[in-house]
Amino acid sequence: MKHLIASATFALTMFAAPAAFAACTSDVAKDDLTGEQVTALYDCIKAELREGYASQGGENTKEYQSWKAAATRPATVGVHGKRFLMTYVNETGFAEYTKYSEERGPMPVGSILAKESFNVSKKNKVQKGPLFFMTKVAAGGEAEPFGNWVYGVFNPKGKVQKISQKFCHDCHGNYDEQDFMGYPDEDVRIEASN
Ligand code: HEC
Repeated sequence: MKHLIASATFALTMFAAPAAFAACTSDVAKDDLTGEQVTALYDCIKAELREGYASQGGENTKEYQSWKAAATRPATVGVHGKRFLMTYVNETGFAEYTKYSEERGPMPVGSILAKESFNVSKKNKVQKGPLFFMTKVAAGGEAEPFGNWVYGVFNPKGKVQKISQKFCHDCHGNYDEQDFMGYPDEDVRIEASN
């Protein structure tokens, strides 16, 4: 029910006590959530999600939290475990990333894309998902076969996950016209102002 989500958001803003919302739930099934309801769930889980990601001091797990968002709210496009995804981009990459254009040049070396994720279970409980990274590195190194992107993942407890670069790039490779970036759902993209 809508008021459940609304009151959770209200309480969170009023008392700033995210720990009280360890179990964010919704009476609305995942597929029926409106954008507003997704935002409310994100607001409910955000502080705890971020605390978890940063808790082991993993590279950029704290820093990305002050980067600019590339989307107005989390959205699901059906990949990454069909989770809701929310992308943040560092200073080096933000202007280029938010052009969302196939004609855009390659992303500058040093660009870092961070993507938070969460899901809503069949029982309508909000579940934490991993934190994903893509870092643009100079051409000619080990990442050359992967478009000079280095992929990384941290679990919700902040632990770095062993992943295969090839696994990530096998899918991101489909976006070769976009320097291998998938981009958020069109409805939620924040466009560059220049
Ligand atoms: C089945 C395809 C698929 C696989 C596998 C996949 N991704 Fe993605 N990824 C996407 C798509 C599509 C998007 C854009 C959707 C969105 O952000 O809403 C995306 C977005 C991202 C972003 C945000 C930047 C952007 O726009 O591309 C990061 C960071 C990322 N993925 C990292 C990873 C990592 C790390 C792995 C491996 C563990 C991985 N991805 C595996 C399809 C995939």
